[in-house]
Amino acid sequence: MALFSSSTQTVPVTGEIPQHIAVIMDGNGRWAKKRFLPRVAGHKRGVEVVREVVRQCANSGVKYLTLFAFSSENWRRPSDEVSFLMGLFMEALQQEVGKLAENNIRLVMIGDRSRFDPALTAKIGEAEAQTQANDGLTLTIAANYGGRWDVMQAVKRLLQDKPQLADSFTEEDLSAYLSMHYAPEPDLFIRTGGEQRISNFLLWQLAYSELYFTETLWPDFDAAAFKLAIDSYQQRERRFGRTSEQLVNN
Ligand code: IPE
Ligand code: IPE
Ligand code: MG
Repeated sequence: MALFSSSTQTVPVTGEIPQHIAVIMDGNGRWAKKRFLPRVAGHKRGVEVVREVVRQCANSGVKYLTLFAFSSENWRRPSDEVSFLMGLFMEALQQEVGKLAENNIRLVMIGDRSRFDPALTAKIGEAEAQTQANDGLTLTIAANYGGRWDVMQAVKRLLQDKPQLADSFTEEDLSAYLSMHYAPEPDLFIRTGGEQRISNFLLWQLAYSELYFTETLWPDFDAAAFKLAIDSYQQRERRFGRTSEQLVNN
């Protein structure tokens, strides 16, 4: 049995506070450029905003927060920016893991780790192990993650494990192999920085998520901006294919 129901198989139970928020943290480079700073200054500032948003989520009862930190296409960036970002992950892990553990936060990394420096891979493993038993907020960092990679790796592993299911596997069989099998589907998707696209983030899991786009650049995404996103979510009518009348009569 899957841990969580699928939005396309059964209508999920939803509440005022999103159980799972997924975020594309975009606009760091533009934030820095506006201030005549190097792009990496925006990434540095972005880490501080992560800390703040994690706190907001933990305080408001959100159970899962998933942050897109580095996409499978971000390797296309100039190599000095890529190296800086890798260094920043390492530094953030070193500095924050203790605090995550203290605050009952479980850290999980999703994405293809094979391209990371072995020291970074080891640090990720340690951080996950150290926070594994925590049952407060689950913080997922998507690094070298791509939605297509995720579906592909899931299909491959499923067929390796259960070749007899090659032409009969179900949605539930497959979703057990997807990177986010341990979490419900995101209720709310936020993208900062003004672009209105998914950029190969959680393609499978966003099937029925409420989408929220804001012009606010990630380094400016403060408590007030977070509240606007939650307010917008609370105005939505989540029908999952049904009519509005059916919801009222429920
Ligand atoms: C998001 O900010 C952070 C990463 C993709 C790592 P960007 O670096 O994409 O910032 P913009 O979009 O250039 O402003
Ligand atoms: C998406 O942002 C990836 C992350 C925030 C990690 P990008 O800045 O890479 O997206 P595009 O290139 O504008 O679509
Ligand atoms: Mg960007």
